[in-house]
Amino acid sequence: MKIFVTRPIPEVGIKMLQAKGYEVLINEKAENRSATKDEMMVGIKGADAILSVLTDKIDAEIMEVGLPTVKIIANYAVGFDNIDLEAAKQSNLMVTNTPGVLTNTVAEHTFALMLSIAHRISEADRFSRADKYKAWGPSLLLGTDLSGKTLGVVGLGRIGTRVALHAVRGFEMKILYTDPKANPEFEKEFGAQYFERIDDMLPHCDFVSIHVPLLDSTHHLINEEKLKMMKKTAYLINTSRGQIVDEKYLAEALKNGVIRGAAIDVFEFEPEITPELKNLDNVILTPHIASATEETRNKMAEMAAQNIIEALEGRTPPNLIS
Ligand code: GLV
Ligand code: GLV
Repeated sequence: MKIFVTRPIPEVGIKMLQAKGYEVLINEKAENRSATKDEMMVGIKGADAILSVLTDKIDAEIMEVGLPTVKIIANYAVGFDNIDLEAAKQSNLMVTNTPGVLTNTVAEHTFALMLSIAHRISEADRFSRADKYKAWGPSLLLGTDLSGKTLGVVGLGRIGTRVALHAVRGFEMKILYTDPKANPEFEKEFGAQYFERIDDMLPHCDFVSIHVPLLDSTHHLINEEKLKMMKKTAYLINTSRGQIVDEKYLAEALKNGVIRGAAIDVFEFEPEITPELKNLDNVILTPHIASATEETRNKMAEMAAQNIIEALEGRTPPNLIS
């Protein structure tokens, strides 16, 4: 069996595959950049499985090259918007992801962003390094408390739920949420309030955190209209997918005080970042690292490898999407 791994991933997953006697072909050239289409085309040919990452656009054309040998595309990510599921179905390819293992890490990163923007940590760090700290001041770099504030969770999946838990248990925040369906148990446990329409929720939030997958229906879910519905004092946090926010307008909104700040881990055209954002102090930008802890990335590698092993041994992989 031959496995094509599009980018180097943690060793532990590779070892699992090698222990099965599989030939593992790692696209080592793509250590610090995305795999090119050519590299994918070459690597996929004759492979039995593909271990892909979120920067790989796996479309019908690429899948075609993998037929008839490829049986499974194991994505090293919880999100799978990089894979054309319809084409995979047509080609009878299994697709898997890595849910659950990264939930807590992404929720922690969400909180790291929320705390950092509210307490102006990045800005204060830049200030200190630039030798601007000349005297303590009563109104030097004033921020905002999280405690007692209202958090709007957009998308109550695993990650959104975990973020709500930290918000309630750690900061006694009030939780509002919007999702295709209400979750009465969650409401009871966290004293949360459900909004069927995001429009009805946004005006009440001090912080809004996005936890929905990228779908046609969530593309630019947060656009000019929605940002204008938010409080002028509110903050937007995004650790989901960049295309969910109209990034060009977000930059404008941050510049013009439509909202107070934002902290985002994902970008609409990543790795490109809207240049205007980089000049603003009221935004924190992290390079899609919300799941990037050693522990979690190892678990993701194990999970992706296990999905491949199960599929190639004729069983249903545990994290089958379609
Ligand atoms: C990261 O963005 C993931 O989907 O795992
Ligand atoms: C992703 O894991 C989610 O359900 O939020």
